Amino acid sequence: MTSRAPALRIEGLRYALKDRVLLDGLDVEVPGGTSLAVTGPSGSGKSTLLMCALGLVKPDAGTVSVAGGDVTRMSARALAAHRRHIGVVFQFGELLSELSPLENVAIAALLAGVDRRKAYGSARELLRWLGVPLQGTTGLLSGGERQRTAVARALVTEPAVVLADEPTGALDHRSRDTVADILFDVPRRRGCALVVATHDPVIAGRADVRVSLDAGRLVERP
Ligand SMILES: Nc1ncnc2c1ncn2[C@@H]1O[C@H](COP(=O)(O)OP(=O)(O)O)[C@@H](O)[C@H]1O
Ligand SMILES: [Mg+2]
Repeated sequence: MTSRAPALRIEGLRYALKDRVLLDGLDVEVPGGTSLAVTGPSGSGKSTLLMCALGLVKPDAGTVSVAGGDVTRMSARALAAHRRHIGVVFQFGELLSELSPLENVAIAALLAGVDRRKAYGSARELLRWLGVPLQGTTGLLSGGERQRTAVARALVTEPAVVLADEPTGALDHRSRDTVADILFDVPRRRGCALVVATHDPVIAGRADVRVSLDAGRLVERP
């Protein structure tokens, strides 16, 4: 049954640079409600893999199915519409610092075509859950609060897949643990698939499944 299809399914993904094959026929499946950590040294291709899953990098071969749609074959327009199925958290939050946390989260929903009332309602609910003040200037938040705001923004369109690229890489240990608690709670509470690219073994250790990117393939780790 298609209802049991994994939220994210990558098959035969290949992506080569001029002088180096970064992704070499890589396969992986991430069911909804579960988390996958991708480790690997800097430069091994973790971010490139996530960019392929986002549809921003077009692979040389292979398919990337997100919520049943192959993002490698979509037109820019179709992809823009499909993006609401994918939430993203980057290392530095990538928020608009002069807006409030509430506006930062709501704007992601508004851009995805959610009506104003629901966009602000969902944003408010998520930020309260994540313990971030709604008002004030985002630029003045602590690093941990900014990343929690980024998590809220990633979740506001109720995505099937959340991709996090070194989400705790810029945080001190205490904020790192708080953000990790929240992040790994997300698949359990919201049923989506979570993929975390990280070089931090403590963070990776919290995922349901751990793989490392090794010579362009994913190798399962204990
Ligand atoms: N579009 C590109 N053009 C040239 N080199 C690239 C491009 N994208 C990534 N790279 C290179 O590919 C390698 C992998 O990058 P990346 O995916 O960012 O690795 P990681 O996230 O594991 O550190 C790096 O050596 C990077 O410089
Ligand atoms: Mg990276």
